[in-house]
Amino acid sequence: MIHTGRHFLQIPGPTNVPDRVLQAMSRPVMDHRGPEFAEMAREVLEGLRPIFQTSGPVMVFPASGTGAWEAAIVNTLSPGDRVLLFETGHFSQLWRQVAEKFGVQVDYVPGNWRRGAAAADAVARLRADTNHAYKAVLVVHNETSTGVASRIAEIRRAMNQAHHPALLLVDVISSLASMEYRHDEWEVDVTIGGSQKGLMVPPGLSFNAVSEKALAANRTAKLPRSYWDWQQMLEPNRSGFFPYTPATTLLYGLREALRMLKEEGLPNVFRRHDRHAEATRAAVRAWDLELLCEEPREYSSSLTAVLMPQGHDADRLRNIILENFDMSLGSGLSKLAGKVFRIGHLGSFNDLMLAGTLSGIEMGLRLAGVPHHVGGVTAALDSLAAAAPAGSPAPAIRSSAGAP
Ligand SMILES: Cc1ncc(COP(=O)(O)O)c(C=O)c1O
Repeated sequence: MIHTGRHFLQIPGPTNVPDRVLQAMSRPVMDHRGPEFAEMAREVLEGLRPIFQTSGPVMVFPASGTGAWEAAIVNTLSPGDRVLLFETGHFSQLWRQVAEKFGVQVDYVPGNWRRGAAAADAVARLRADTNHAYKAVLVVHNETSTGVASRIAEIRRAMNQAHHPALLLVDVISSLASMEYRHDEWEVDVTIGGSQKGLMVPPGLSFNAVSEKALAANRTAKLPRSYWDWQQMLEPNRSGFFPYTPATTLLYGLREALRMLKEEGLPNVFRRHDRHAEATRAAVRAWDLELLCEEPREYSSSLTAVLMPQGHDADRLRNIILENFDMSLGSGLSKLAGKVFRIGHLGSFNDLMLAGTLSGIEMGLRLAGVPHHVGGVTAALDSLAAAAPAGSPAPAIRSSAGAP
């Protein structure tokens, strides 16, 4: 089938890259040891701090998110160290594998992939650990495979209640610059982020925001590291340089994206994501389909995972939507393969893009013969109308009969 118009990229990352960011990257590569580069890098390194809500350093690696997971582990832990990692879904599983490959002993706290990390489990396990064997607690903030967000502030409270000195390591790869997240206030020690989702930059950059406590742990951590070594990165970063050739072009893009986020204002960015997520859930409910996330306090604002009715394959639906409407939706990962589809509503996104996305799904449900009620799109539009975008005046909705 020949497609016209723009492809709809509605997977939960990589996300649509705004024209401003694309244009910022479309320029000659500069000397990464020259003054112009240092000026740009300093703006980027400073500009990242408010995104993580930290006053501490944020390091940028030329790598996808997996690299930043590895960086967090090798910089803070030693071979044989024990850590607590919460099973939230596919990505907690992958992070566990990275840790285990480095000889870290992972106590994997079981979860059902429909709820976030349970603070009560954390309290119980940390209280029982009177010898402080656990060196770190690892949590994926927004589990991209399930659309469930763990409540990090509660995990931190649980750690404090247990008076446990373990480090807190949090993956915000699919919540950064989309959902409320406070590195300093929640006393997170290492926050792991990526460029390709809420930050609206192509894949290829990832981040470690680090606390003083993490830096102290780094001085005694014995896992082997070279490319990921924080000390090697922090020193040149102070003057705007990198210990190796940085991803210059992606950094141009990141600088522009940070400027855009600053112009919009982070609280407005979060409200925008909340509002689109709420409208998406209104559509899912109106279709009479089931949300994978069971706990309303843990709904993700950057993506929604939708369960298929028994006997209907999510990948078949996704393929029909791709072929007919040129829209990509996220697949079910690992044990959710074929059972869920995921709608990404994060990054550079607006009301009409959401309306188009949901229309494509509603038309796809019909074409695929998936049992559902019509009216999901209308329910989403009603939800959007009821919650005006941040900064706009209250909507003046008139019925067509009363229109002048
Ligand atoms: C929550 C989360 N963690 C980690 C990763 C891995 O990141 P990457 O694929 O960029 O290596 C992803 C990727 O989507 C993710 O969503």
